[in-house]
Amino acid sequence: MACYANINIIHLTEPGQVELAYSVRYEVYVREQGYATNTVTDEEDEHCQHWAAVADKTNVDGTIENGVPIGTIRLAIKPDNVARLGRVAVISSARGLKVGPKLIDIFEQYCIKQGYHTIYLHAVSEKRGFYERLGYVVEQGDHEEFSEDGTPHIRLWKRDLV
Ligand SMILES: CC(C)(COP(=O)(O)OP(=O)(O)OC[C@H]1O[C@@H](n2cnc3c(N)ncnc32)[C@H](O)[C@@H]1OP(=O)(O)O)[C@@H](O)C(=O)NCCC(=O)NCCS
Repeated sequence: MACYANINIIHLTEPGQVELAYSVRYEVYVREQGYATNTVTDEEDEHCQHWAAVADKTNVDGTIENGVPIGTIRLAIKPDNVARLGRVAVISSARGLKVGPKLIDIFEQYCIKQGYHTIYLHAVSEKRGFYERLGYVVEQGDHEEFSEDGTPHIRLWKRDLV
C-alpha cells in the first residue's frame, strides 16, 4: 500500500494548475466509480476556484514521488455571497487521512476571507455523515433526496460563516 507524507493544500490559481484537480477527479470518478470521462469537467469549471491536496508518495517498492495530487475541491460562487462547495474527491489509497476535512477547512477559510456567509453542497447521500461531522446540516424542505448523474444526492448547508 502506498504511503503519503507532507500533505499540502494548494489553491490552483496559475494557468494549467487546475489539471491537478482534474487528474484526481479522473482517478476517482472515472477509474474508480465508472462515470463517463465527460463528467470529469463541466462548463462551470472555468468560473470556479479550485484546490488540490498534494503529497509525497512512497510506493510499495520504496520509490518516492513528490507532489502527487491526491485530493480536490471546487468553489462556485453564487448570488448574494453564497458559495457552493463541490467536486470533493480523495483518491482511494489516500482516504482516511483527513485529506477531505483539510480541503474543506481551507475552502471555508477562503470563503470567510471573501465574505461568503453561506455554503451549500449537493452531497452523494451516502456521504451525508461525512459533511454532518463538519457542521453541515440538511435544512427543513431539503430532506428529499434527488438524482444527479443517476446517484442519490442530498443538499446540505453551513450558514453564518461571517
Ligand atoms: C468522502 C471523501 C472525500 C472523504 O475524504 P477522506 O479524506 O478520506 O476523509 P476521512 O475518511 O479521513 O474522513 C474524515 C472523517 O469523516 C468520516 N467519514 C468518512 N466518510 C463518511 C461517511 N460516508 N459517513 C460518515 N462519516 C464519514 C470518517 O470516519 C472520519 O471521521 P473521524 O474524523 O471521526 O475519524 C472520500 O471518501 C472520497 O473522495 N470519496 C469518493 C468521492 C466522493 O464520494 N466524494 C464526495 C461526493 S459528495
